[in-house]
Amino acid sequence: TNPAGILGTGHYVPDRVVTNADLEKIVDTSDEWIRERTGIRERHFAPEGVNTSDMCTIAARQAMEMAGITAEQLDMIIVCTLTPDMTIPSTACIVQKNLGAVNAAVFDLYAACSGFAYGAITASQYIESGMCKYILVIGAEILSRFMDMTDRNTCVLFGDGAGAAVLGPVEQGYGILGADMGADGNGGQYLNIPSSGVAILPTDEAREKHLTYIKMDGKEVYKFAVKVMGKTAEKALERAGLSHEDIDLLVPHQANIRIITSAAKRLHLPMEKVFVNIDKYANTSGASIPIALDEANRQGLMKHGDIVVLAGFGAGLTWAGLAMKW
Ligand code: ACO
Repeated sequence: TNPAGILGTGHYVPDRVVTNADLEKIVDTSDEWIRERTGIRERHFAPEGVNTSDMCTIAARQAMEMAGITAEQLDMIIVCTLTPDMTIPSTACIVQKNLGAVNAAVFDLYAACSGFAYGAITASQYIESGMCKYILVIGAEILSRFMDMTDRNTCVLFGDGAGAAVLGPVEQGYGILGADMGADGNGGQYLNIPSSGVAILPTDEAREKHLTYIKMDGKEVYKFAVKVMGKTAEKALERAGLSHEDIDLLVPHQANIRIITSAAKRLHLPMEKVFVNIDKYANTSGASIPIALDEANRQGLMKHGDIVVLAGFGAGLTWAGLAMKW
């Protein structure tokens, strides 16, 4: 097989910053509660007129530039999002047009916050098999448009942004060495947007009942996340023939600092080996891991030969992890 690895990364967040103090003016919450219970200080919201595909395109261009890849060289584009511009065309088609990636097969992938990890694993299979050489994987969300700004249980938790990576062939022994992905559809009830597809159309009544917004049972999602995040990382490492002692950097999904800390504990990792940026961006769902990966990359935190582990969980419920030699 042809080993597949990450050749370049990029990210974009909209300019508008919404602080915890800003949210104090909207709902009954406090900066102290949000920081202590989640680790979040601020998040970015996309302005009207900016769509998921716009943010994807900016992040993608950065990743392609770092990888030294032109749009024509891309064989595939996978956009991982739960907030597409529209149901058809796929956001990936819009991004393809924006980039001029005329040789790429393109599709959207739905795995919520596990999306980018699912997407990177999927891309690696096409590269390893020899069917594709260069694949662009993007995670991007505008969650602010699905947030109930009257519900303090959810509206403080999420933000908007996009992250991208170009995957391609790497030297033997490098790149993605092990991966794990899974789902438990029984947990779908704990995190959903009831009126976001055909089951309940967004009628006036649905809007009045706030069914077009994210509904979450935070405690159930928390319990699931704490269980699954370390486990998926361990499984990916095991399949790579590695153990937690080999990890140089863990880049986890940024949903709650307490979930990240408990995953680090399970993996016996000191927090110096865990990348955290939830304070700046909150939970950007599918964008969270690739934004974190790009920031870690541009800060020079991954050296050639380092073992880097990505681990995510999300609505579905879903989870995915991958172990890479950088
Ligand atoms: N400000 C002030 N108080 C609040 C707020 C807020 N923003 N939100 C909730 N509270 C209150 C609650 O009403 C509750 O009050 P009560 O005891 O009087 O009822 C109290 O704080 C404690 O609430 P808990 O739910 O026990 O708080 P907890 O410590 O569990 O934290 C949280 C809640 C942050 C939501 C946590 O459960 C969590 O992070 N869950 C996981 C969420 C997650 O990761 N979701 C993303 C999934 S990824 C995806 O696919 C989108």
